[in-house]
Amino acid sequence: MDHFHYIDGQLHCEGVSMDEIASSVGTPCYVYSRATLLEHVRRIRSAFAPLEPWVCFSVKSCPNLSILKAIAGAGSGMDVVSGGELRRAMEAGCQASRCVYAGVGKTDPEIELALRAGIGLFNVESEEEFATIASVAERLGIPCDGALRVNPDVDPKTHRYTSTGNRETKFGVDLRRAAAFLRATHGNRWCRWRGIHLHIGSPIYDPTPYHQAITKALSLIDELAADGIALDTLDLGGGFGADYTTGQSPSATSYADIIVPLLAARVAAGLRVILEPGRSVAANAGSLLVSVVYTKDSGDRTFAICDAGMNALLRPSHYDAFHFIWPTRPPAGMVPSVRCVRPEMDGLVVHDIVGPLCETGDFLGLERAIPRVARGDRLAVFTAGAYGMSMANRYNSSPLPAEVLVDGDSFEIIRARETYDDLVSHERVGELAVTLA
Ligand SMILES: Cc1ncc(COP(=O)(O)O)c(C=O)c1O
Repeated sequence: MDHFHYIDGQLHCEGVSMDEIASSVGTPCYVYSRATLLEHVRRIRSAFAPLEPWVCFSVKSCPNLSILKAIAGAGSGMDVVSGGELRRAMEAGCQASRCVYAGVGKTDPEIELALRAGIGLFNVESEEEFATIASVAERLGIPCDGALRVNPDVDPKTHRYTSTGNRETKFGVDLRRAAAFLRATHGNRWCRWRGIHLHIGSPIYDPTPYHQAITKALSLIDELAADGIALDTLDLGGGFGADYTTGQSPSATSYADIIVPLLAARVAAGLRVILEPGRSVAANAGSLLVSVVYTKDSGDRTFAICDAGMNALLRPSHYDAFHFIWPTRPPAGMVPSVRCVRPEMDGLVVHDIVGPLCETGDFLGLERAIPRVARGDRLAVFTAGAYGMSMANRYNSSPLPAEVLVDGDSFEIIRARETYDDLVSHERVGELAVTLA
C-alpha cells in the first residue's frame, strides 16, 4: 500500500505531482508520503493490538528527523543501533526511555551516552558487551535494563547479507550458550536482565521463521523461569516485508496471525512484547526521483544514464534488489497497472538504468522493459523509503540527495541537497577540531 499513483498520466505522491517536486527541488531527490508512513504504523499497531506491543521504529531504515518526528508523534518508540541514531531519536522528540539499543559494536562512549540519556533497554549482543555495559553503568552509578539478543539459528530465507538469525552470523549469543550466560549474570545490579531479543533478518516474506524463533525464545524463558529467573520482555525485532512488486508482502495481519496466538496468553500473564519494524513502515512510503542525463545505444544494450545510481540507492548493486522504475510522465496509455518485474505492455524498450559513477556495478535496474526514455525525462524508483537515503553515500564526490515529505497537497524539504561546500567542509585542515563522538 502506498500513495504514489498516476493522475492524468502523471505520477503523484498523495496530491502533489512528482514533476512539480523535481522542478522545484531538483534531482536526485527522495520523496516520502506522510500518509503512507502513518498508515503502515497504524496497520502494524492494529494487527498486533492483542499483544499491546511497544512499537519501536527502526531508525536505520529511514533516519530523517522529520520522518522520525512523524512516527514518534504517532506514539512509537525507536530502535537504535548507534549513538548517532539515539541522538536522532531524541532530537525528533522520542525520549531515550522509549528507545531500545541493539548493535554488535557499541563503544564505551556510546554506552555512556545511552546510560546518561536513560535508555529504555539495551539489546545486548555478546558476553563481553554485557560486562562492558555493567561496568560503565557501575562507574556512572546509573543502572539499566538489558535483553539478551539470542541467535536462534533459524533461516529467514532472505538475502545472505540480511540474514541475522543463523548461527554463522555475528549477531546475538548462540542460543545454546544463552541459558548458562543468563544464569551466571542474573542478579547483576547494574545491568538487570529483563528479557530476550530476536531479530532474524529482513525482509522475511514467509512468517514461519518467526514461529520457529519465538518458540525457541519462549523455551529459553521457561527454562530460566524454572530456575527462578523471571524475564518479562520479548523483543521480536523487525523484518516484515514491503511491496517491491504489487502485493509481494504479506499484510501485517498475516504476520500477526502467526505471532499473536503464540504470545497472547503470555502477554495476559505479564509479558511485554516489543516490535522493531523499519522496512514495513518506510519502504513503500518513499520513492527516489532521478533524471535521465543521457541515453546511449551500444548496439547490444540501451542505457538510460541517470543523475544518481548506487550513491543514492545502494540496494540494487549491493543486494541485487529489485525496485520498480517508471517514468513520471510516461507516453499516453503507458501507465502501469501493477508494479512487476516484467510489465506486459506494447512498445516497451529494454533499458539498463544506470548511474553516473565509475563502476559497472552502478545501476538502479538492469534489463528493464520501460517506455523509451530521453534526455531530461524523470524516473521514479519505487519502494525506496527504507535503506535508501540511509545507505546513500558520496562516492565519486556526489553530494547527498535532497529529501522531501509530502502531506496531502503540499510538500516540504526535509533535507537540503548537499552542496560542494558540504563535501569539502570536513577536510579543511587547520579548521578541524578533534571530537570524540
Ligand atoms: C536489531 C534490528 N531491529 C530491527 C531492524 C529493522 O528491520 P526491518 O527494517 O526489516 O523491519 C533491524 C534491521 O536490520 C535490526 O538490525
